Amino acid sequence: MRVYCAKDYEHASRTAANIISAQIIMKPDCVLGLATGSTPIGTYEQLIRWYEKGDLDFSKVKSINLDEYKGLTAENDQSYRYFMNTHLFDSVNIDKNNTFVPDGTEADSEKACRDYDEIIRSHGGVDLQILGLGHNGHIGFNEPADDFAKGTHCVKLTESTISANARFFASMDDVPKEAYTMGIGSIMQAKKIVVIVSGEGKKDIVKKAFLGPITPQVPASVLQLHSDVILVGDEAALSEYNKGV
Ligand code: GLP
Repeated sequence: MRVYCAKDYEHASRTAANIISAQIIMKPDCVLGLATGSTPIGTYEQLIRWYEKGDLDFSKVKSINLDEYKGLTAENDQSYRYFMNTHLFDSVNIDKNNTFVPDGTEADSEKACRDYDEIIRSHGGVDLQILGLGHNGHIGFNEPADDFAKGTHCVKLTESTISANARFFASMDDVPKEAYTMGIGSIMQAKKIVVIVSGEGKKDIVKKAFLGPITPQVPASVLQLHSDVILVGDEAALSEYNKGV
């Protein structure tokens, strides 16, 4: 694993955006695995700036998002489809028909997950996967569990994730309790993975995930087994990790 320690959030965002932009330049029709959460917002803003300058062309890019809340429509401003439209897709020349997010409105979980796995399969997998990191070590919505889930599945969100994400909703009760998420197996099949972390709140879980034992109780720890992971973080998020290496 390569670790890039940036001085602050903006620097980390530019670094992650540089990696994504290199991927798009080298393979204009690449498949990007995209993430939501507050951490990648700065990265997406930087990509938009480079697109506006004429340095980036998304016209052939395809994207497959990690996850979606079950029950939320694309129009719901807390859905991850809405997030992606607002924070990236509406501001660049990506063809929305080439952007995929699990269908939160599909009530039949098995069908929603089967369909999404087929989308991932038919695109030949992901070239570059962007990941954030949950406070309990979740990636996508793969919560701590007894085993690593391979494919797309429906998860019951943990109390800690529901309360961490409650800041985006009117109240805790409004946070959906379930989500569809790409599985650890699909994430691990990405050719390259960039994990973006920021802020002091992530320092303990970053150390646990990347220096601790590999266990499904800390889902991100499985990334230690991937051959091409870049961890991009600011000094605050990497402080404990840096002490441990
Ligand atoms: C959500 C998303 C994750 C994301 C995590 C961390 O739970 N499903 O993909 O990595 O939040 O979010 P943040 O970057 O806001 O800390």
